[in-house]
Amino acid sequence: MHVVCKCRYVVLMCFRGFLGKVVANKDSAMKRAERGKLTLSQMIPEFDAECVNSASEQNVNLPDGFSVRSLLEELRERSTVNANVLQTAATLHREGLLTGVLANRWVDDSGCGSSSGRLLNLLAGHFDVVLQSCRTGHRVPEADLFTSALTQLGVSPNQALWLADDDEGVGAAEALGMTAVFVKDLTEALKQAIKGEILPAVCSTETVSHGYVSIKPGVKVHYVEMGAGPPVLLCHGFPESWYSWRYQIPALADAGFRVLALDMKGFGESTAPPGLCLSDLVTFMDKMGIPQVTLVGHDWGGSFAWNMAQCHPERVQAVASLNTPLFPVDPSKNPMEFMKTVPIFDYQVYFQKPGVAEVELEKNLARTFKIFFRDTFPRGVLFHVCVCVRACVHVGGLLVGLPEEIPRSSMLSENALQFYINQYKDKGFRGPLNWYRNTERNWKWLCSRPRAKLLMPALMVTAGKDPVLLPVFSKGMENLITNLTRGHIEECGHWTQMERPSELNTILISWLKDTHNNIGVAMTPKL
Ligand SMILES: *[C@@H]1O[C@H](CO)[C@@H](O)[C@H](O)[C@H]1NC(C)=O
Repeated sequence: MHVVCKCRYVVLMCFRGFLGKVVANKDSAMKRAERGKLTLSQMIPEFDAECVNSASEQNVNLPDGFSVRSLLEELRERSTVNANVLQTAATLHREGLLTGVLANRWVDDSGCGSSSGRLLNLLAGHFDVVLQSCRTGHRVPEADLFTSALTQLGVSPNQALWLADDDEGVGAAEALGMTAVFVKDLTEALKQAIKGEILPAVCSTETVSHGYVSIKPGVKVHYVEMGAGPPVLLCHGFPESWYSWRYQIPALADAGFRVLALDMKGFGESTAPPGLCLSDLVTFMDKMGIPQVTLVGHDWGGSFAWNMAQCHPERVQAVASLNTPLFPVDPSKNPMEFMKTVPIFDYQVYFQKPGVAEVELEKNLARTFKIFFRDTFPRGVLFHVCVCVRACVHVGGLLVGLPEEIPRSSMLSENALQFYINQYKDKGFRGPLNWYRNTERNWKWLCSRPRAKLLMPALMVTAGKDPVLLPVFSKGMENLITNLTRGHIEECGHWTQMERPSELNTILISWLKDTHNNIGVAMTPKL
């Protein structure tokens, strides 16, 4: 079965009553604009004239100050993207269905950017076919538009399902031999049809846009970028990659942000002499022309984000961390000495001696990643891994005593596993492990810096079942941060981004929108 959905074009839905009659005319200015015969600026005066004529014919008084232009402005202010629809489209894709959108749309020549254009950009990233009436010359529900969609998808009418929110569309699709369903709430209807978990869209390395910035000789930063809007920089942890944000990148981009996901220094395609690299990030931002960012980090990336917010507050608009709390810097407490006294940090002690953990973790990359990337404790093998986290110096390794053959957790697809293997195949674990070998140096450096409360908005997302970064460690953060928002996902282990992608995206997007509360205005410019 193939699914063709109609884009709920905001303007159409809102013309009721009087305006509905004006628009219903076969050759109304709006219909002509939708067929691509008029641009928006040509349509507006004709539409105005039609309203005046129709009002006088029907003896209706138009409200004071009525104009099509201001009406459209008002509608534009209200237009939003339904993230659930995009998420549902991604799920249909994963189920192997072809999807398409038919949209009635005019050519926006206002020159101020177009919010319906943005909407269509989003749809194009999620559907196999997006047809716009102004390009094809036919409107929904004209038969020619349906037929072109079916041809492009390579399916016959009896293989297609049409979801519509109006009777006219249902009738037209049925007349062509398609199955048509009237749906009041598209998202709900698709949720019922799919039953299983609806995962957010995921991006792959082949389809995403990659960039490289030279920081200084020998230091290069690789990043992946998607979307337009306020910049949001994603910083992954150990042993990961930009790819650990694969479920967040499309969702945050769709929500109206410019997402930049870094390969942290020493990981993936980013090169790396060891050392705390806050100044490298500053250089990165300078070279990219980004005055301020919102940072989102996880695991090591979380520490990095907190450090950056403390040391370069002028460059950080807001900061969020997953799992990793902000620990106060205590000049009287050497962190390496402290780690030795806390059993769950034993693995960090084990990681200190160069070359040792490298050999163990690189021996069988598939096994290593299958052991690392497991979901909520204590459902799987993570239990055993957890034991090793505590005693690995003693037993001589992190993966000791675990079977050779480890089943892959359901949260890690075979493609994803292969991606991580490829990333670590050539350069191995040395660069990533070096992050742990700088703990003491970083601490000394941080102690030498002035310390003050964090004043920018901050978000701390704790995970109820993280065996190492326990939610309780985040107690007291309110004393270090003036505006702390909290999020918590109880049934979630350490790999929050891939373990609970929908829940996490909801938390992140809601906070990001609050933090950039003018985003609605920025994304929907006036006519
Ligand atoms: C605190 O942060 C939230 C979320 O970013 C924001 O909406 C709010 O305006 C901030 N409050 C203050 C007092 O700055």
